[in-house]
Amino acid sequence: MKVSWTSPSNIALIKYWGKRPIQIAKNSSFSLTLKNSVTTMEIESQNSNLGLQIEFLFEDKPNDKFKNKILKYLQSITKDFPWLESSSLIIKSSNTFPHSSGIASSASSMSALALCLLSLDELHKKELFPKEIFLSKASHYARLASGSACRSVFPTMCLWEKDATAAKVFMDVHPDFTTLLDSILIVDESEKKVSSTSGHILMETHPFREARFKQAEINLENLILSMKKNDFKRFSEIVENEALTLHALMMSSNPPALLLKPESLEIISKINEFREKFKIPITFTIDAGPNIH
Ligand code: DP6
Repeated sequence: MKVSWTSPSNIALIKYWGKRPIQIAKNSSFSLTLKNSVTTMEIESQNSNLGLQIEFLFEDKPNDKFKNKILKYLQSITKDFPWLESSSLIIKSSNTFPHSSGIASSASSMSALALCLLSLDELHKKELFPKEIFLSKASHYARLASGSACRSVFPTMCLWEKDATAAKVFMDVHPDFTTLLDSILIVDESEKKVSSTSGHILMETHPFREARFKQAEINLENLILSMKKNDFKRFSEIVENEALTLHALMMSSNPPALLLKPESLEIISKINEFREKFKIPITFTIDAGPNIH
């Protein structure tokens, strides 16, 4: 049997930074879905007498790093998908965006993987899940692979609440906010020096951790309010506060991580000048790297 899904990446406006087992966020997060930056994944499944076997091709080439990550993940969920234990999977994946371009490829690839798994589960069970349940389950299993991936299952805007095991679509905003556009200014294409996973671990002992978790909930509440009221100025203040807070938390971690580059700061100050001069509603956010969204 063969299944295929296309799933987008996302950029967080309210940042998920800090988690507890198993993959539960210490604070709520909110994201924009990047509908043109997608992973397409195809999985061909056959019976195997040798236990779970996988072959993984990224853009037509074997990739052991991704293969091992996916294998470990699949082994961790065989209790929920028992058919995995007698399956041999050929997984082919490709992205519409370049690797290390400042777009989270783990979000789009892990959500595509979770969607494919659920489609295979439907085929094994000979049962179709109602759409809403299907997507919520996909978000749940995407989260187990990578937290931010749970937000990639839904279009436009997505909310992943603190303590929740799945994200949900969030569209209760002024229509202007459903047409936001994201452009990325690439400062550095090299691989991230601090993985998100190690960043989440640093939050476990961070001196500002409790204050940060509270701040994220307040920022979320105010962000939603600003989008309902169509108040771009307030929206922008919160989005930028979240981006700079993420980097301030990294800089004040032990050991510290300084990911912004001089060019990142230069771009930020140009965005401020541009907005002031032309009165065009523009704001910035930053992921765990130097590139500016
Ligand atoms: C800064 O989802 O990559 O991008 O759950 O360990 O896979 P894991 O972490 P990940 O963390 C994302 C961190 C972030 C902010 C965000 O997307 O909310």
